[in-house]
Amino acid sequence: MESSWTLVATTLPCVPLPPNSQREPIRTKRLVIRPMQEDDLQSYHELRAQPEAMTGTARGRPDRDIDESRSAMSDFLSPKDDKMFLYGVFLASTGELIGEGGVHNLESSSCGWPEIGYKFRKEFWGQGYATEFLGAFLQAWWSLPRSHVKRRVCSSSVSRTKDSESEATEQVYANADVNNIGSRKVLEKLGFIQFSEWTEPDTQEHRIGQPLTLVGYCLSKKKGKDTINRD
Ligand SMILES: CC(C)(COP(=O)(O)OP(=O)(O)OC[C@H]1O[C@@H](n2cnc3c(N)ncnc32)[C@H](O)[C@@H]1OP(=O)(O)O)[C@@H](O)C(=O)NCCC(=O)NCCS
Repeated sequence: MESSWTLVATTLPCVPLPPNSQREPIRTKRLVIRPMQEDDLQSYHELRAQPEAMTGTARGRPDRDIDESRSAMSDFLSPKDDKMFLYGVFLASTGELIGEGGVHNLESSSCGWPEIGYKFRKEFWGQGYATEFLGAFLQAWWSLPRSHVKRRVCSSSVSRTKDSESEATEQVYANADVNNIGSRKVLEKLGFIQFSEWTEPDTQEHRIGQPLTLVGYCLSKKKGKDTINRD
């Protein structure tokens, strides 16, 4: 990622974030999007045991056993839930868990803005579920109470307001492997704009150290509000 950073005045969701217990389920035409809980562990493990679903993760391999999934789950359950804004994605018709996603990092090391990620079980790819999830998720994200803050962010991610040089419209960030066409299409359909592309050593276990080209995307708060995709 580029080395030019700038300090901006912007808005961000108030921290601590509301805990899972205070987050209302989100309903769309085909999905129920709600915080996961401990008794979702078996289905969460089935998602994380799929090599295809795990391709976009830092480690890049499926969980070896349910204990690895339990450990991953503990990162977003109470008492750590006030640092992430993650949801399980369930089919409304059957109640089964088909994916998960949300903001897993409130301050991305790549560009300073909150960072979004998601993964879905391969049987459900190509049916518009990720796009349906992300549109509804963004509405919940932009609706969180906000405070005015100063934040160091990557310069090229910033769109400044006219009033002041140091003020910047709030952004949410995501990145994708340049070859991950599915994920890039999801982001672009929701209005995310590509602002960077860079190559770094891969962290995935089967490709460790090999060059990985990533594309950085941002969506500004105003634009996000215009791209609500709920039924
Ligand atoms: C990326 C991912 C979430 C997409 O989920 P999805 O439910 O299939 O996404 P959607 O159906 O909403 O949209 C995907 C779009 O990309 C297209 N697409 C998917 N894979 C593609 C490919 N290999 N080449 C070209 N287009 C592709 C789909 O046809 C669809 O386009 P359309 O809306 O014009 O028909 C899913 O593939 C996944 O979980 N991958 C593994 C984890 C991952 O990569 N997460 C993202 C990390 S950055």
